[in-house]
Amino acid sequence: MGRKFFVGGNWKCNGTTEEVNKIVSTLNAGEVPSPDVVEVVVSPPFVFLPLVKTSLRPDFHVAAQNCWVKKGGAFTGEVSAEMLVNLSIPWVIIGHSERRLILKESNEFVADKVAYALSQGLKVIACIGETLEQREAGSTVAVVAEQTKAIAAKISNWTDVVLAYEPVWAIGTGKVATPAQAQEVHFELRKWLQANVSPDVAASTRIIYGGSVTAANCKELAAKPDVDGFLVGGASLKPEFIDIIKSAE
Ligand code: G3P
Repeated sequence: MGRKFFVGGNWKCNGTTEEVNKIVSTLNAGEVPSPDVVEVVVSPPFVFLPLVKTSLRPDFHVAAQNCWVKKGGAFTGEVSAEMLVNLSIPWVIIGHSERRLILKESNEFVADKVAYALSQGLKVIACIGETLEQREAGSTVAVVAEQTKAIAAKISNWTDVVLAYEPVWAIGTGKVATPAQAQEVHFELRKWLQANVSPDVAASTRIIYGGSVTAANCKELAAKPDVDGFLVGGASLKPEFIDIIKSAE
């Protein structure tokens, strides 16, 4: 089963109107493979979503970087899934390690968010990944399996889910996982899906890698059979993001 290559750009908490307009112009001018070959989703901060949505080339899509865990209401400061749907924002990133570690979002809370976002018709990039301590303790697979299990327990349809494996020790550090390290975890995750969800879900779910992906290292990573794309942070703010998208070829 062919899994369409997926490249996400997580802009994190960055940008001014001027900078966002500059990034969008660079993206709009980029020569990239057709949407049949690669699915591109960029994720600006909430405040720039309408601007990016209206100015971005039509073959690229937008994602929010988070959303609230249930219907909106008296939850000051939150942005609901319904609001994203109302703004025709199709994707949302959920469970990024920065939210798990800094804002203490638990596996359960992340899983509830994934389920609610899907229930409202959003497509979800669900993030998982181990810390350096967990990797050094040899518990990488156990940790990411646990994170995936929490999500699997709350959803019945994986069609609109992309799983992003982002080892915490590779995020923002320049210490990218080797292609072998990424392939090993992606393979184990697909094996987990096969055993605990279904062979079809295992075969069709994109498992993408995030953590210090650059134009220099993306080709080798993309060549691995279970690496179906990337979730890019820092490099997604730079022209090299176009080269990373091209690694789908
Ligand atoms: O969500 C992607 C992000 O966590 C990766 O960040 O800067 O290491 O590419 P970066």
